[in-house]
Amino acid sequence: MVINLSDQHSLISNWVSELRDVEVQNDRMRFRKNLERIGEVAAYEISKTLAWKEKEITTPLGIANCKVLLVQPVLATILRAGLGLHNGLLNYFDNAENAFITAYRKHKPDGTFDISIEYLSCPEIDGKVVIISDPMIATGASLVKAIQYLKAEGVIKKIHIVCAIACTVGIEFVLREQPKATIWCGDIDDEITAKGYIVPGLGDAGDLAFGQKIQS
Ligand code: URA
Repeated sequence: MVINLSDQHSLISNWVSELRDVEVQNDRMRFRKNLERIGEVAAYEISKTLAWKEKEITTPLGIANCKVLLVQPVLATILRAGLGLHNGLLNYFDNAENAFITAYRKHKPDGTFDISIEYLSCPEIDGKVVIISDPMIATGASLVKAIQYLKAEGVIKKIHIVCAIACTVGIEFVLREQPKATIWCGDIDDEITAKGYIVPGLGDAGDLAFGQKIQS
């Protein structure tokens, strides 16, 4: 299932438009903040799909019958570009356990690339809901590989994917590989370049959030 959070008019569209804007992009802090805000709204929306329990809470004046989250999800992200969305998710799922994965494009002389994963730090994920964040689903290759690594650690109850912008081919690939996952995106674009950049997209999310890296 795919949920485009821009289908309805909301502040999400404002934040996505700022993420895309070459002028606003000069403000790195705003870029990170907008990713964080999208992560927060996605957390709120996903929370409606989770399991809740009744709990009696003692107030100074009596007992209130409240609903509280049964179990916190595990929040996973792909370094480094996923950190902004991840922070937003963690602001709301404030007691969640976290998984971190490195995934990067290892470029070959012919211009193609493989996805290389070299590090995974993961809590117990057996039977848990996992929310994995990655700002851009372009080809979807790194996301799918990251999920495969996570699934090797245990039987995940449900996978939610949170991104700022997804490309249609990437969505199709991810859902072909992970048909039971739900993708929550800030917006959807149709084009992708030969080098795997989404068009119109926003550029390189990691560089815009944290500065240009040396290509090696
Ligand atoms: N990663 C990015 O940061 N941008 C894209 O357009 C595609 C992948």
